[in-house]
This record gives sequence, structure tokens and C-alpha cells, in this order.
Amino acid sequence: RNHRSRTECRGDINRLNAHFLEIYQSLIPPEEEKEKQKQLMALLNKHVTNEWPGARLYLYGSCANSFGFSKSDIDVCLAMGDADVDRSEILLKLADILKSDNLENVQALTRARVPIVKLMDPVTGISCDICVNNLLAVINTKLLRDYSKIDVRLRQLAFIVKHWAKSRGVNETYQGTLSSYAYVLMCIHFLQQRTPSILPCLQGMEITYKVNVDNVECSYFDQVDKLQGFGSRNGESISQLVWAFFNYWAYCHDYANDVISIRMGNLLSKREKDWTRRIGNDRHLICIEDPFEVSHDLGRVVDKRSIRVLREEFERAAEILQYDPNPCVKLFEPY
Ligand code: GTP
Ligand code: MG
Repeated sequence: RNHRSRTECRGDINRLNAHFLEIYQSLIPPEEEKEKQKQLMALLNKHVTNEWPGARLYLYGSCANSFGFSKSDIDVCLAMGDADVDRSEILLKLADILKSDNLENVQALTRARVPIVKLMDPVTGISCDICVNNLLAVINTKLLRDYSKIDVRLRQLAFIVKHWAKSRGVNETYQGTLSSYAYVLMCIHFLQQRTPSILPCLQGMEITYKVNVDNVECSYFDQVDKLQGFGSRNGESISQLVWAFFNYWAYCHDYANDVISIRMGNLLSKREKDWTRRIGNDRHLICIEDPFEVSHDLGRVVDKRSIRVLREEFERAAEILQYDPNPCVKLFEPY
């Protein structure tokens, strides 16, 4: 624990509530965007089922996990039923089919880390990436969406954190900073850790949903309607939570030893995960366990340089919320 860590913010942090809620509201996608997404999905579905009658299309990522901003691109997964298909072959075929319709910029990127077909639909103006058989992403999208239904403060906090990360340039995995998915996991973990807790640990409860994908067993309590009001014993406001989130990552998190785990609803140690040394390119400088692929550290992209950038940004955010007279402007200032 750093000497600057605090359990309470200086001054009246609650004065910022209305500001944060306004920012949150302004980022929520309007209903008509959902309609356009459905329209594009229907078009894609027609082509896909025509060529592969057993296949299905799923939305995943921010367009389906409830943490998406207005005007985001959409992520689509083509589930082939058969796990052993040649992905490149499928993607090349799919690109051919879609090119013959009036879709624009159709490209198969078969050598990317996650191979995809990219396209733009001129009718709806939506850009979209389609991958093949990435079912774990579809399932973790459902888990995040289910968490967001329990307490609205998760969605509010994650919107503010994502907006901050995008403004400050620390949402770029190719530059060694964190994915949006990683930031949402950080927010869920943080709300599980409040006292009283604002979110439960769904994977530690009675199992009501269970699927096996790519030899990973994914199971948890998904009857989240029954958890309405779970967090109501905790009265913390959104501005208190935003401050406490940055204060935690700036001054309280033990980067040398701890792993955050929403699966366990707790901290784990790097030692028990065997994440204490660098293996290949995985340095484990900030450790965020994937809820289903438990050997997977979402912090693996972070290197010696970018961990400094990240920690300086967490500290900057905490200091601004603490001391700046006009924090809502400064916090999101472009870097
Ligand atoms: P935006 O920044 O708004 O586009 O957010 P996003 O949630 O779409 O962002 P991101 O590109 O981080 O991830 C898209 C989806 O891919 C996530 O919601 C996850 O379902 C999945 N995903 C991303 N990274 C990983 C990863 O490292 N492991 C796994 N299993 N899934 C991932
Ligand atoms: Mg996305």
C-alpha cells in the first residue's frame, strides 16, 4: 500500500455525480442503432445460412455485452457447428459471397491473430468484423452482459473508465495497453470487492447455465433477474466509485503479487497461477485472469514501458479527482 492511498476522497466528490451521469448518458447508443444492427445481421444471416445451413451468427463484444458506445463497429462470430473446419477457407469463401452483395470494403484477413472478414454496409453505415468459431468470446460476452443487469453502477463505471482509457490512449493492445474487455473485468472485480459488495461472484454460485466450448467448461448462475437489488446495501455513488477505482489501481493494487479474478470474486496470487516470471512475451506485469480461459492473462500485452504509462495514468486520474477544481474536463483530456 502506497502512502498516498486513501479510503476517502478529499472534498465533496459527490458534486461530480451529475457530470459523470451526463457523460454516461451521452455515450449510450440510441435504440435506432440496435435496429440497424439487426438489419445488417439479418442480411448476413441470409447469406450464411444459404451457404452453410448448419451455421449460426452471433453478435459478441461491445455491441452485445452492454458496454458498447454509440457508433461502435460490431463484432460477429460465425459458428460452424464443426470445430475442425479450416477457418481461412471459410473466411475466403464468406468474403466472396459478401462481395457479390452490395457490401463495401469486404476483405478477408486470414493471417491476423484472430482471422476475420471485414466489411462496411453502406445501407446502415455499420462496419463489422466477422470471425469463425470464436465461441468463448460469445460466452464471455453473455457473462459481462449478465453482470451488467445486476447493478446499473457497473455499466456507468465501465463507460466512464472506457471513455477515460480511449481519451488517454491507454486502450490500445498493440501498444501494450489494455483492451476494453480487460477494463470491464477490472470494473467487475472492483465492484465485487466493495464492502458491502455491489456485485456477487456469479461463477461461485449455483450453476444455472453450462456450456462446454473448446474444452473449457463455462458455467455460472445466470438467473440475474433474481439478483435485482443485490448491491442496494451499498450506497456508494458513481463519483465515489470512479475515484475509488482509480485510487485502487494507482495506490492500492499489489502489482508484484496479485492477480484479479472475477471467477473467484477475489484476488489470487501470482505464485499460485505460476505467473511470477516472464514466459515468452507474457510478462505478467498487471494480472487479470480471464473468467473462463483461466491460463489467460488479459494483462499479457503489457510490457515494461506500457506498465509505466498505465500506472502513471491511474495516478493522474486519482490525483485529478482528488485535487483538480474541474476534474471532469481534465480527466478526459486528449493525451
Ligand atoms: P470496444 O472497445 O467498445 O470495441 O469494446 P469491445 O468489448 O468490443 O472490445 P474488445 O475489442 O476488447 O473485445 C471484443 C470481444 O472479444 C470482447 O468482448 C471479448 O468477448 C472478446 N475478447 C477480447 N479480448 C479477448 C481475450 O484476450 N480473450 C478472450 N477470451 N476474449 C477476448
Ligand atoms: Mg469491439
